[in-house]
Amino acid sequence: MARRRQIYEGKAKILYEGPEPGTLIQYFKDDATAFNAQKKGTINGKGVLNNRISEHVFTLLGNIGVPTHFIRRLNMREQLIRQVEIVPIEVVVRNVAAGSLSKRLGIEEGVQLPRTIIEYYYKDDALGDPMISDEHIAAFGWATQEEMHDIADLAIRTNDFLSGLFAGIGIRLVDFKLEFGRIWDNDYSRIILADEISPDGCRLWDMTTNEKLDKDRFRRDLGGEVEAYQEVARRLGLLPDGA
Ligand code: C5P
Repeated sequence: MARRRQIYEGKAKILYEGPEPGTLIQYFKDDATAFNAQKKGTINGKGVLNNRISEHVFTLLGNIGVPTHFIRRLNMREQLIRQVEIVPIEVVVRNVAAGSLSKRLGIEEGVQLPRTIIEYYYKDDALGDPMISDEHIAAFGWATQEEMHDIADLAIRTNDFLSGLFAGIGIRLVDFKLEFGRIWDNDYSRIILADEISPDGCRLWDMTTNEKLDKDRFRRDLGGEVEAYQEVARRLGLLPDGA
C-alpha cells in the first residue's frame, strides 16, 4: 500500500489523509501523556481499546442524533472520520468533583456537584491549555455565539446519554473532555463532535468500589492501566467476559 500522508501527530493519535476528500484516518497510539506531556509513557494495547470504545460510544451518540465525525472503524487501531476544522476549545463536563476542579476550588474529590458544570479550556499546549470563559471565546473569535450554543447543547446531551450508559454498567461518569469541529457546506458551517471518547479523556469510577477505571491510573502511578481500560470495554460488551 502506498504510504499515506500524515496530516497531524498528537500525543495519543495520528491523523492521516483519508481515502476520499473530506475524510481522515485516525490512528490510536499506545502513548500516554499527562500534565501537559511532562509525564510520558506507553500503555500497551491502549490504542486498540480506545479505538473500539470510541467507535462504540460515537456510534451510540450518532444513533440518538448527536452529530459526530465518526464514519467507521477500519481495523484494530484506525477509524475513518470526517475532516473537520477543529474549534480550539476543550470542553470539560463535570458531574462529580475531581482533578483540577478539586484542586482549584478545594472541593474534596468524589463530592457530587449540585449541578453539571461545563468548563472551557483554550487548546494550546505551549500555554498548558488555560481555562477560559465565554467572554474570551467571543472576544478572540474562537467560536461564534451560535456555535457555543450548539456546543453546550451537544455537551449536555452527550453527558446525559453517557451518564446513563455508564451507570447501567456500574460506572460513575465523574467528568470528561470533548472536542468539536466545524463542517463546511458552501458558506455554512455546523458543529459536530470530534476527537474521541475513551478512558483517556474521561474519569470513570466503579460505582461500588470507587476504583478508577481511566487515565488517572497512569497520572497517579496506580498501575493496572490496561486492565482498567479492558474492564470498561468488557462492561460495554466489547470484549468476551473472560478476556
Ligand atoms: O484535569 P481535569 O480535572 O481538568 O480534567 C477533567 C477531565 O477532562 C478529565 O476526565 C480528563 O481526563 C479530561 N481532560 C483531557 N484532556 C485534557 C484535560 C482534561 O482529556 N487536556
